[in-house]
Amino acid sequence: MDLEEGTREFHNLLSKIHPRLLPQFISWIQDHVEVLERDLLDNTDDDDDDYDDNVENTDVILESIRDDLRQIIPFSGIFPSENIVSPTIGPNSDCTPQTTVHIDAFLYEEDDLKTLESDGKVSLSYCKDCNSKNVGPFTLITHSASQAQVKYIFQYLLPDLTGKTLLDVGSRFGPMLYGAYLLTNANIEGVEIDENLCKIQQQIIKKYQFDDRIRIYHNDILDRADLLEKADIIILNNVFEFFMPLETQTKVWQFLSSHVTRRGVMLITHPSIEESLKYLKVDIKVNNWMKEIDISSHLSKASLLLLGKRLPSETDLINLHLYETL
Ligand SMILES: C[S@@+](CC[C@H](N)C(=O)[O-])C[C@H]1O[C@@H](n2cnc3c(N)ncnc32)[C@H](O)[C@@H]1O
Repeated sequence: MDLEEGTREFHNLLSKIHPRLLPQFISWIQDHVEVLERDLLDNTDDDDDDYDDNVENTDVILESIRDDLRQIIPFSGIFPSENIVSPTIGPNSDCTPQTTVHIDAFLYEEDDLKTLESDGKVSLSYCKDCNSKNVGPFTLITHSASQAQVKYIFQYLLPDLTGKTLLDVGSRFGPMLYGAYLLTNANIEGVEIDENLCKIQQQIIKKYQFDDRIRIYHNDILDRADLLEKADIIILNNVFEFFMPLETQTKVWQFLSSHVTRRGVMLITHPSIEESLKYLKVDIKVNNWMKEIDISSHLSKASLLLLGKRLPSETDLINLHLYETL
């Protein structure tokens, strides 16, 4: 039963209970939710011991990589060689340098932020009106996937990737690549336009001996139609909005729609393709190109099991979308 069917069945059940008894029934559910959640945690399909060990090892290795990266990456997570373009249109157009803090979600998790703030290393609020106590929160922007997002994708969203090729467009520090290596058998490719970022990924790949299945290409994706054409899974995690002006974004989407044409290719995107195209003058008929897959049941399960949150909207997993080419 998927989430939609389950919700319908639940409403159906509620409609059969005598209205007088409804408050009692709801209260019974509330009391039992924790037990139900515990059952769900015990009942995941990962009862295979080897699989559990693998997931635990993944956490340890990703955390070790994070420690290594923190030593070599500036606190802002941005290199002087990079050209960050503040969006002028769309939901992130309020991200001005004055009110935005760039904190990399792979390097610093939510709990780390509290420690960083109490240590005085970062301020998460700014004074909206000097000399007053009128303070507002900074908008936090990350340019990497968080560890939870990486695990969600490779543990919950995607099918078995044995024999498949996965491409991360704009692989940055590489969390998607390392997660894919540790949790799948895919052949993994990352293309990244910034040379410093490519060197960092190479360093990690060498240290952790991931080089039998990960390759990094220092290129503009516009020069690598070949990588797009052979990929079975393509990740586009906020690649364009903060890294190129609208005209270049338009060009890149036209390029993607001309070269990602094989049937059955899966795309994981943030934001949704519709959102990305909304402000661009492109002639792409998304509905003829691909269909979005309903991932709501994976999302609810992963929110609970990875982050202990019943409401996926409270997590960053909600940002990810899954499509398949037609
Ligand atoms: C938001 S980051 C993506 C992070 C990474 N995929 C992840 O999920 O953690 C976007 C990256 O795309 C890179 N990029 C931007 N334009 C590109 C292009 N035309 N070709 C290749 N990489 C590009 C940027 O340098 C940046 O590192």
